[in-house]
Amino acid sequence: MNLMEKAIEAKNNSYSPYSNFRVGAALLTKDGKIYTGCNIENASYSPSCCAERVAFFKAISDGYKEFSAIAISGDKENCYPCGVCRQVMSEFCAENFKIYIDDKEYTLKDMLPYSFDLEK
Ligand code: THU
Repeated sequence: MNLMEKAIEAKNNSYSPYSNFRVGAALLTKDGKIYTGCNIENASYSPSCCAERVAFFKAISDGYKEFSAIAISGDKENCYPCGVCRQVMSEFCAENFKIYIDDKEYTLKDMLPYSFDLEK
């Protein structure tokens, strides 16, 4: 199964009774492991978490800190990552980190130009 197929499959576990909008993500580590995530919502709304961050935090909590790509699939086309998820990506990923959305390919630099980074 390729990265986008994994993202599509991850949507099945979405807990999204408030928005009724499912999102799945599949994150590829530099050594070839895939971590999936889905959006998880809450009655109080603000504790909700996007699929992308769930995938990142699963991987990081397992000790992975180097990533090469993420595939994202929402219930509708053009499910672009939110600003918070882009900032999380910028903490762990280089500007050439690949972001696949439907059949399109972007880099983190496309999605978050001029990002805040103490080391730049
Ligand atoms: N959502 C994601 O999981 N990822 C995105 O890239 C955009 C939005 C979720 C958050 C919320 O659970 C639902 O989609 C509707 O905004």
